[in-house]
Formats: sequence, structure tokens, C-alpha cells
Amino acid sequence: MPVADRELILNAFTMNTPGHLSAGTWRHPRDQSRRYLDIEWWVELARTLERGRLDAVFLADVLGVYDVYGAGADAALRSAAQIPVNDPVQLLPAMAHATEHLGLAVTASVSFEHPFPFARRMSTLDHLTRGRVGWNIVTSYLNSGALNLGVPGQVAHDRRYDIADEYLEVCYKLWERSWDDDAVVLDAERAVYVEPSRVHPIGHRGEFFTVPGIHLAEPSPQRTPFLFQAGASPRGLRFAARHAEGIFVAAPSTEVLARQVAAANDAVEAAGRAPVPVIQQLTVVVAETDQDARRRFEEYLEVADPVGAQVLISGWTGIDFAALDPDRVLQREESQAIQSTVDAFTATDPTKRWTPREIADYVRVGGDGPVLVGSAATVADGIERIVEQTGVRGFNLAATVVPEAWEQVVDLLVPELQARGRFKRDYAPGTLREKLGSGPRTAAPHPAATVRIDVPTPEDAGRNRA
Ligand SMILES: Cc1cc2nc3c(=O)[nH]c(=O)nc-3n(C[C@H](O)[C@H](O)[C@H](O)COP(=O)(O)O)c2cc1C
Repeated sequence: MPVADRELILNAFTMNTPGHLSAGTWRHPRDQSRRYLDIEWWVELARTLERGRLDAVFLADVLGVYDVYGAGADAALRSAAQIPVNDPVQLLPAMAHATEHLGLAVTASVSFEHPFPFARRMSTLDHLTRGRVGWNIVTSYLNSGALNLGVPGQVAHDRRYDIADEYLEVCYKLWERSWDDDAVVLDAERAVYVEPSRVHPIGHRGEFFTVPGIHLAEPSPQRTPFLFQAGASPRGLRFAARHAEGIFVAAPSTEVLARQVAAANDAVEAAGRAPVPVIQQLTVVVAETDQDARRRFEEYLEVADPVGAQVLISGWTGIDFAALDPDRVLQREESQAIQSTVDAFTATDPTKRWTPREIADYVRVGGDGPVLVGSAATVADGIERIVEQTGVRGFNLAATVVPEAWEQVVDLLVPELQARGRFKRDYAPGTLREKLGSGPRTAAPHPAATVRIDVPTPEDAGRNRA
């Protein structure tokens, strides 16, 4: 089926902070994002999203402060540009308990935690959510995060992906190979809970990690959580093509998006895998009429913080916007932060030149992704146009003023897309992977699948002594 005729994947893109992508919207009188500290806030959000049949709530995260702008954290703190920011993982059990089908995707970095405890945390979540967990694999881009872990600074951009490759290899061995499906026997007569011969030490000795032993958690519904990734630089794309089951992009224009989708599709094909959905970041402002939506958008722009926007774009690009001439076209440069964000505003579309002032203005509402404003019909038209022109499979919808932004999506936009046959009316049964149409387990040549059929490690002979 051509991509343009397929049902969209729609996720809600948010973060455990009052200022995710539109810094300053917390000042709007109707905004309730201050309630991010309240577990009820997240439960209500999960229920709203499930009412709208959204595929997943997708929680972004950073472990660091945006201190590139003005070479300090003051501007980030004032504008609540992704700070204060709480741990996203702890929201998942509450949201899972309040819902039955909603996917729960969480961002976690391979740069800050050893894979052994992380793999167990994800297995635990996959059990508690009955197989609805997704992992947005990030390598992190904020130097401030690295420094607080006692290392001299961030590992270089491409090297971070080398580490990530091995991190994933360790996780796959723990999730997919360590425990046989029938390891837990619960044989009361023989007094055997787990059959030891069916649990295998992974014997991993690599360049970055040594993990000789067994996984601590028994096999969870998905084993490997559904994997999202947003690498869009050449090295990042190679990583995404190898591991991702959903590829995220944030392209500021349809032209850039079309190029990114084509590049992602090519990379996945070169990796010998079946096509992987590419999902674009998008902010929508929907109301009963175009005029009402426009009015709301003007209100949001009024409270959006222009300095906060520059704090965010400086963090994403690694370029201090406070030090730039606002009217001199931004030039491409090598970045140790998000290379593809620098490229998106410089090299990817040679027909468009962006000055720092234009970029900062663009980023004010909706961050580095586009904004569609209008009635449900107008926004649905815009979405259909983007899909047809780019081949993108879905959208990570970001919020502005909350919770009204989520309610607009669920009560106005979703019914319009459903009426056009663009969006499902009900969830498919099963795990998140099954709901997204990928079957129960990853398929070869995905490395999580091939690790299952690899020969057992020599350590298996001395089982469980590791
Ligand atoms: C839509 C989107 C969402 C992202 N969310 C996060 C996030 O929550 N946390 C994070 O550390 N990085 C996030 N990133 C950055 C990516 O993880 C990754 O660092 C970046 O896309 C790498 O790009 P590169 O390979 O082009 O340098 C996101 C990127 C995109 C495009």
C-alpha cells in the first residue's frame, strides 16, 4: 500500500517539564503545565490520549541543562527551557495503570547509565505495562550532562554512536538470549521456579562494556522494547537503520523532510531491513474554526519566550545564538550536539537561507518542527499534504498550552482524520510492537533477532557462575 494511503501513526510528544518545545507557554493563563509535579496530571493525560486512540505518549528527556546560550544556565532557568526537568521513567507505571492500550515510549540515553541496570529497568516496565514500552534511544547532546558524571566532557559525536551500538548489543543479549521462553517452570512438585539450564550468561566482553552474567528479569512480553531513534546525521542514520523500528525527524520544511525521509528509507534498505516508519515532529493548533485557531496561535506567540527559544536552539545545535549576528545567514558547521539540526537550517535545503533571527522566531512555538494552525479540516489537509509530498508515516505531536492542546487534538483533529480514513478508530490487540504492525518480535536481520540465533557463548558451559 502506498504510504500516502496508510493510517497515520500519531504520538503525543511531551516531557516531564513545564517547558518542552515552546518555552514560555507556562505563562499563558489557561496553561496548567505546572501540574507536571502531580501524578494525576500524567494519569489524566494518558486517559485523554487513549480516548483519542493515539499510538503512544512519547516522553523526551535530557540529563543536563541548556547552558550553551550565553555560556550559562540563567536564561534556561528563567524561561523554563526544559528545566526544571524530572525523570520520565517514573511516570510510566501510573500511566500504564490508567490505560489499556496506549504505548508508553520513554527517552533514555546510552551515555549516562551502564546497560546492565538499564536493561532490567526496561524489562520491569515491559512487564508492568504488559508489553507497551518503547525506548527512544539517544546518545545525548548536552555537554553539561556529561560533566556532571565526572567525565571531562562529551564523547565526540560519531564515537557516541559506536558506544551506542555496543550498548544495544549488550541489551539484546540480555533481553533476547539470556532466558529461554520456557525458563520459568514454576514446578512446585520439584521445587523449581526457574530451570537453570534454560538461563544463559551472555559472556559479553567488548570495547566499552563487560557483562559476563545472566539477565536478572524473566522474559517480558516484548523482550526488546519497541525501539525509536532520531539519528539523522550520516553516522546517526546508520545507527537508526540498524536498530530503529520507528525513526524520528524534526524537519523545519517539507523540502527538508522529504530529503530526510528519503535518506532514512535508503539507509534502512541498505541495512537489508523492511521499511521502517519515519515520524516527523509537528505542533498543531486546532480550534472549531480557522479564525479561532489563528487567535489562539497569536495568544501562544505572545507568551512564547524569544530568549527561551534561543536557549533551546543553542542547546540543540551547540551554537551560542547570543554570540551570533542575528541577521547574518547561519553557516553550516561541524557540531558535537545535534548535527542534523544544524544541517536542517543550513545545508539540507540549499534553496533556503536562515538567519539566526529567523530561526529563533521559527523555534518560538513548536521548537525545530513546523506548526499547523486551523480548524480540524485545515490541519488535516496540511497533514495529508505533508504525507503526500514526503512519504512520512506519522507525527510526534507536540503541545503548546496544555491541557487544551491535547484536548484539541483528541476532540477535533482525531475525528477528522478518522472520518478521512487516515487514522484508526480502535487499537489493535497485543503489545506496542504488534499494535504498530511489526509482529511480536523483531525480525532478522535486526540485531535483536539475530542475537537469538547466535551460537551460545563458551561461558554457557560454566553457567551461572559468572
Ligand atoms: C524528534 C526528535 C526528538 C528528539 N528527542 C530527544 C530527546 O528527548 N533527548 C535527547 O537527548 N535527544 C533527542 N533528540 C536528539 C536525538 O536523540 C539525536 O541526538 C539527534 O537526532 C542526533 O542527531 P544527529 O545524528 O543528526 O547528530 C531528538 C531528535 C529528534 C529529531
